[in-house]
Amino acid sequence: MKKVSFIVLAIVAMVSVYFYARSQDVYVIPEPVKVTTNKFVSFKLSNPIVVHVESAEAQSAANCLSERLTPATGYLVKTGNKPGAIELNINKKQNTEIGREGYTLDVTSDKVIINANTSAGLFYGVQTLLQLLPKEIESRTIQNGVSWIIPGVSIVDYPRFAWRGIMLDVSRHFFSVDEVKHYIDNISRYKYNVFHLHLTDDHGWRIEIKSLPRLTQIGGCRVKRTGKFGDYEWPKDGEPATDCGYYTQEQIKDVIAYAAARHIQVMPEIDVPGHSAAAIAAYPDLSCTNNQKAFVNPGSKVSEWYKDGTFKIFIDNSLDPANERVYTFLDTVFTEVANLFPFGYIHMGGDECYHGYWEKDPGCQKLMKEQGFRNSDELQSYFVKRVANIIESKGKKVIGWDEILQGGLAPNAAVMSWKGMEGGTKAAKLGHEVIMTPSQYTYIDLPQGDISVEPECLTWGSVRLKKAYEFEPIPDGVDPKYILGGQANLWAEKVYDMHHGEYMTYPRAWALSDVFWSPKDKRDWPGFVSRMEKQMPRADIAGINYARSAYDAIVRPYKEKGKLKVELSTEIEGEAIYYSFDSGEYKQYKEPIDIPNNIQKLSVYTTYGKDNKGKTITLPLSTLLARTK
Ligand code: ACM
Repeated sequence: MKKVSFIVLAIVAMVSVYFYARSQDVYVIPEPVKVTTNKFVSFKLSNPIVVHVESAEAQSAANCLSERLTPATGYLVKTGNKPGAIELNINKKQNTEIGREGYTLDVTSDKVIINANTSAGLFYGVQTLLQLLPKEIESRTIQNGVSWIIPGVSIVDYPRFAWRGIMLDVSRHFFSVDEVKHYIDNISRYKYNVFHLHLTDDHGWRIEIKSLPRLTQIGGCRVKRTGKFGDYEWPKDGEPATDCGYYTQEQIKDVIAYAAARHIQVMPEIDVPGHSAAAIAAYPDLSCTNNQKAFVNPGSKVSEWYKDGTFKIFIDNSLDPANERVYTFLDTVFTEVANLFPFGYIHMGGDECYHGYWEKDPGCQKLMKEQGFRNSDELQSYFVKRVANIIESKGKKVIGWDEILQGGLAPNAAVMSWKGMEGGTKAAKLGHEVIMTPSQYTYIDLPQGDISVEPECLTWGSVRLKKAYEFEPIPDGVDPKYILGGQANLWAEKVYDMHHGEYMTYPRAWALSDVFWSPKDKRDWPGFVSRMEKQMPRADIAGINYARSAYDAIVRPYKEKGKLKVELSTEIEGEAIYYSFDSGEYKQYKEPIDIPNNIQKLSVYTTYGKDNKGKTITLPLSTLLARTK
């Protein structure tokens, strides 16, 4: 009898461990390369947590682990070379399978072992380990009553791409050092390794250049406005510019060190020759027009953009390529920037430069004639090549946006391709390094759901979550060795604060971390959705804001035989869609609906699981009709 009870108990225990382990299955973002689960095994953290390390590199990963384990568990983390339940090892013999940034992670009932070739690999192993723990580990306060169990797994993991970037625009809206650090900390959880700071633009110069103090004294300040960025009133004559913000060089060093501790390199961007209104406000003679009344744009409309991709800028915001003082100025700027940032690349911008003032300027025309340039694109290319030489003379590689291809690319320049896939394809075929960041997949400043229910954002395109997830960074017909990787870009015209910045970033940066890190053949949208759903409550506890727009319906009005119809769909499988006219009874959507011409509005919502509901989208008939155009 005793024996039977023992067997029954043993079976019950095994079954519960099995189901526990299942409920704790591996939901890691980005998806690791190889995961083998051992459902009958798990490891439980207990106090104190002893972490075995033998080297300074391993110690730095142990410090990161300790910082994340202690607040929620309240356990003491002891690190040192004594035997420990958690081992963080730098491989004595290189493991060639996992490369420079990979790791292996093995969880058995009595040990957790992370092995890597470098401290970066250990750091990434630690990020994965943290995602295997219960979500309460994300809390900054002690969580009593949680069993800190890690499922039995064996993971081999390494990135697909060496460049896994996110850009933050700190010119259009300035973010404090603490906000920037918080942003960096969050992206490091998802194994991003390049943080691109867009430091200068028409709306503010945000980095101290000690030899050119006016850049921040004048270029870092604009007149204060509230309301909608982009529609603000122009500065009035004599109006004081009191809305200021820039980083001192000491603060920049602090941010770089903070990022380095998380294995993130910081890449500076100084955007020239266009997007330079802030520099010109400080030093008007850098532009052809030498307008002494030049101002830092507070977010007023100073340009017009046309459907064919061309544009006009009413206030000169471009540096004068025929003025030698411009190159002296840039040499000074890039000398200080190169000394400050250890990363091997400097971004020179190069995008959206309006040539209208160059075309009217006698100095530019003379230079073009002397050099035999046939058009202003060749003049731009001349400028880019000279700036590339300056940057390279500081021992750095130069990167620019697609437009640096116009008129001929500088010999060693890398291209950050944002206008679709074409620029990157062309540059890679010419043998240049490329970072793919096409706006239709990676511009996380664009709306991720129906604009009627999204917060204010730029609306010249949209990037739904599934679209971001579908991004393939290697263009067809291109040698993959030229594609360093990809990047998400958070432009900040309409990002008024960091809470909103996080909303725009997540979950798209989760999807893109899979794109940049995980093997292409592991791409699996429903699988990503399951992992995202585990990540959301973790982000809630960690205090990371994110959007739930992926749950919202996609409303597509169209005309068929002159009649207005609407197709409703969702990007998350298994959602039900409901609609009603004029707040009447909701019906479940089955097929495209005929829209009666006497209704005022259509309302739509989705449900998913038992308590999950997308936002209700209500569109007036006039909007439905307008969207068919
Ligand atoms: C860009 O979006 N102008 C690079």
